[in-house]
Amino acid sequence: MLSALRKYLMIPKLIRLSRSAPKDRNVAWDRYWAGIARTGTQSEVLWDSGSDHELLGYADVLGRHLDPMLPVVDVGCGHGSFTRALAQFFPRAVGVDVSAHAVERARDGSHGMDNVSFLVRDMTQPGAGAGIAGNSDANVFIRGVLHVLEPAEQAALVDNLRQLVGRRGAVFLAETNFQGNPVEYVTHLGATMEAIPAPLERAIRELPMPGHFGPAERSRALPPEAWELLEDGPTTIETNPMTGDAAASLVPGYFAVLKPRN
Ligand SMILES: C[S@@+](CC[C@H](N)C(=O)[O-])C[C@H]1O[C@@H](n2cnc3c(N)ncnc32)[C@H](O)[C@@H]1O
Repeated sequence: MLSALRKYLMIPKLIRLSRSAPKDRNVAWDRYWAGIARTGTQSEVLWDSGSDHELLGYADVLGRHLDPMLPVVDVGCGHGSFTRALAQFFPRAVGVDVSAHAVERARDGSHGMDNVSFLVRDMTQPGAGAGIAGNSDANVFIRGVLHVLEPAEQAALVDNLRQLVGRRGAVFLAETNFQGNPVEYVTHLGATMEAIPAPLERAIRELPMPGHFGPAERSRALPPEAWELLEDGPTTIETNPMTGDAAASLVPGYFAVLKPRN
């Protein structure tokens, strides 16, 4: 019993670390990406598993609901690993991110891929979806972004998703849905009283505190009267294998596929 409570002794350290994160979320994201030297194998990024295993696990769901003739827009693409992997399923993949440094890194990692491109966009700004996919309707892929936004920002971003998908596209989302408090979350990811894995410590120090996103949050952000739910369910978000314990890098998640009602 006492040993189960021991993890809560981390609280002062977690508070101290998270105090240094910039209050402006967009500034925080861009500074974070500016400081990242390594992605993929031995990645410094917390949510980067370094493999396309998670994306390939979504292939059947994407194939069931997303029109393969339409381009796909990877919203909040980060360093672009999912954008590049999506390009094998769609004629064109466009990654957009609020951070110019993330987009620079994504472009650097995509040389020679003719059907992949990246743009800097704050997807919570009115009209931010305009022109991303040219005049075409598009599919949207969004992973690990809604759970880092406040409800009002989620609603603003969803307005832009509606514009992007038009009549023919659909939205696929996959988000972290860990049920537990922040101490339980960081403990799950491998933090102990003695040490915090470096990619996790960097995220705590530099980024806004994440929330979780499951069926209740989806229903609020993409209400059933405006969005038809085509499929949803639990999934596993694969993160950086930072410790020797493979299970620590697997985070309970939630996926959903939706289409706007006309
Ligand atoms: C947890 S990361 C996920 C990155 C990527 N989707 C992945 O799974 O590897 C969240 C990403 O969302 C981006 N982001 C945050 N707010 C955003 C906004 N308002 N508009 C566009 N991108 C945003 C961040 O810069 C960051 O790259």
